[in-house]
This record gives sequence, structure tokens and C-alpha cells, in this order.
Amino acid sequence: MKYLFWVLVSVFLVSCHEDDAYVAVKNTFLTVDVPENFPALVYDIEANPPTQLGFELGKKLFYDGKLSSSGFISCGFCHEQSSAFTHHGHQFSHGVNDLEGTRNTPTIANMAFFTEFAWDGATSHLDLFPIIPITNEVEMGETMTGVINKLIADAEYQKEFEMAFEEGGVNAENFLKAIAQFMVMMISSDSKYDKYVRNEAGGELTETEAMGLGVFQQKCASCHATDLFTDGSFRNNGLPPNPQLNDMGRAEVSGSDSDNYKFKVPSLRNVSLTAPYMHDGRFGSLESVLNFYTNGMVASETLDDSLRTKDGLGIALNDEEKAGLLAFFEILTDDTFINDERFSEY
Ligand code: HEC
Ligand code: HEC
Repeated sequence: MKYLFWVLVSVFLVSCHEDDAYVAVKNTFLTVDVPENFPALVYDIEANPPTQLGFELGKKLFYDGKLSSSGFISCGFCHEQSSAFTHHGHQFSHGVNDLEGTRNTPTIANMAFFTEFAWDGATSHLDLFPIIPITNEVEMGETMTGVINKLIADAEYQKEFEMAFEEGGVNAENFLKAIAQFMVMMISSDSKYDKYVRNEAGGELTETEAMGLGVFQQKCASCHATDLFTDGSFRNNGLPPNPQLNDMGRAEVSGSDSDNYKFKVPSLRNVSLTAPYMHDGRFGSLESVLNFYTNGMVASETLDDSLRTKDGLGIALNDEEKAGLLAFFEILTDDTFINDERFSEY
């Protein structure tokens, strides 16, 4: 059943001062369209209903280097649309003054359906997320006050904030709401896989793709669940810990040893575009990921139970099944999304 989340149908008018004349600027509420094969929306739309002008402001902010201390690192610098909003070719996040972080940049498609954010679930509020990269010294190296002051000093932003929000000041609340509105609208749901599931034209699978889907459902979908391809949980999938980084994953947030080396199960949407892979970007190709699942795992106390079998660790896959999975990954690519002008920088 297809259901639309109608937030709205009203239109509100804002007056703004321009060239000594008051012009009425129309702002309209946007519809957040929940794809029929997706789980329910998690984001509280009623608390921050996306509007056309709020969305446009959020997009401008997302692509503005002003949000960083150097003036050059925007959100879009690390989250590039052509790579499904990841940082192509970068193992680690790479921010101001050429500094490097320790984690790989994940996609930010479909964030409105997620409950926890970052590889370790550092926050469960999408609205608050931007504070993390902005204040991280190896990412944007700024302070919230610094960013807001730069925006206050910009007459164009002042006008845009006023038009986008009823209480239209340039302040942290409206700033965070605008960026969240932009991210909430970023829904990726038009891959060949989606068309197949929804019985739409263009969704006919080849034999190899169908076989790969079957293998995936049987061997991977317990964690990479639902049509978001993640159950949102934190798990240890048996990666050998990287001794240089000593990243404890979820345990860094929970403080509990039982969460050591657990990371958020990533969505696999657009996975063919998002190399490198895993929280530390250690694998450059999907072939290496599959080889890891068959014979690269190490045991530890927190290794997921489902990955220990009587025959040893890991997931058994023969060459044919691997070829099927690689074909399956390709049908998760959503060209509509990565070319959608609503989200593009220019
Ligand atoms: C220097 C590169 C860089 C910049 C700049 C950056 N990000 Fe990120 N982003 C990352 C990395 C790396 C992560 C994963 C962080 C972690 O797990 O600790 C991430 C994670 C995220 C997530 C969570 C995704 C998920 O699946 O949990 C969101 C949302 C996000 N970023 C939005 C933004 C926004 C909005 C901005 C601008 C205010 C921004 N990012 C700026 C690199 C960057
Ligand atoms: C026990 C849960 C579990 C199972 C089963 C599982 N995965 Fe994963 N998968 C994870 C976790 C957790 C991560 C992230 C690990 C990390 O980065 O530390 C991950 C990461 C990945 C990634 C990297 C994605 C990215 O954006 O970096 C791919 C690709 C992947 N898995 C494919 C598969 C395939 C294919 C199967 C079946 C053969 C599978 N997974 C089975 C939990 C699982």
C-alpha cells in the first residue's frame, strides 16, 4: 500500500524587505513521500516540517564552506552526491588543514528512517548531528557560535532565514532545522531493486541478479535487513581490529565492554558507488568485502553469534554465489538519486 505523509496543505506568506519594497514570498510545505517498500519514517516531521525555502536554505548551508574554520570544507565536500553522499576515494574523513579523521564517510541517504547516527551511534537526533562535524577539529574545526556569527554578518542569509521560518532569526535552532530539512528530503528509493520489489517497469531481474538476491536474503539480510538494508543495530562482524586506530566502536558511546568493536550495520543502498568499505574504509572493493566474509574474520568475545558456525567463522559463499551478490549490489544503485538536481551543488 502506498501512503503519503501529508504534512501540510497550507501555504504561508512571509513578508520580506527588498529594495525598499515589501514583497510577499510564498513558502510551501513539502511532502515527504515514504516509499511503499520502506519501513516507517522515524524523523519527527511535525516538529520540523520541511518547507521549500527551509529546504533551499538547508541545501545552501550544506554546500557552504563557511561552516568550517578554513572556509573551504562544506558538508558536501565529504558527502558528494555522485558517490551517494560519501567521500569517494578517501579511506578516512578528510577535513580542514588536510587533517584526517579515523572513520570512513557513510552515505546520508534515507536519514529520516534512521534512529541512530554515526558508526557508533554518537547521537540519536538528526537535527543535532551537524554539530559533530562542525566542532570536530579534524573535520570542520569551527564552533557553533563562530558559524552563527558568520551567518548573522551575511545579509543574504539573514533574509533567507527570515523567509524560511516563521520565527526567522539567524540562530542555531533554525540553522539545524534547515540542514535537517535538506537531509530529510534525501530519499533514495528508485534503484532497479526497488522497481523489482514494487513491480514497476524496469524491475526485471536477470538470472544472476535474482540468484544474488536469493543468496543475500538467506545469508546477509539478518543484519542488512528491510529495504534500507540495515536493522539499525550495532554489531561486530568479525573485522580484525586495526591496531593503529584502536577504535572501540559502540563501546565509545555506551562505555560497555560488551559493545567493543561493534559498529552500526550500514545500509547497502548505492553500495557500488560508496567505496571504500567498513567503518575504517579498509576494503577498496566489494570483492574484498566478500572475501572477508568467507575467510577473513577473527574471533572475539563480541563477535556476532550468527557468524560462528560449527564449521568455523564467517559466511560460506562459493564463486557462483559471490558473482550473484556482486550483480545484486549493482541493482542497488539509484541513478535518479545521484542525479537529482534538488540535491546537487550546482
Ligand atoms: C571531513 C569530512 C566530513 C564533513 C565535512 C562532514 N561529514 Fe558527515 N560524516 C563524516 C564521517 C567520517 C561520518 C561518520 C562519523 C562517525 O561515525 O564517527 C559522518 C557521518 C554523518 C552522518 C551520519 C550518517 C549515518 O549513517 O549515521 C550525517 C547525518 C552527516 N555526517 C551529516 C553531515 C552534515 C550535515 C555535515 C555538515 C554540517 C557533515 N556531515 C560534514 C564526514 C564528514
Ligand atoms: C552479523 C551481522 C551481519 C551479517 C550477517 C552481514 N553483515 Fe555486512 N556488515 C555488518 C556490519 C556490522 C558492518 C559494518 C562493520 C564495520 O564497519 O565495522 C557491515 C558492513 C558491510 C559492508 C560494507 C558497507 C559499507 O558501506 O562500508 C558490506 C558491503 C556488507 N556488510 C555486505 C554484507 C554481505 C554481502 C553479507 C552476506 C554475505 C553481510 N554483509 C552479512 C553486519 C553484518
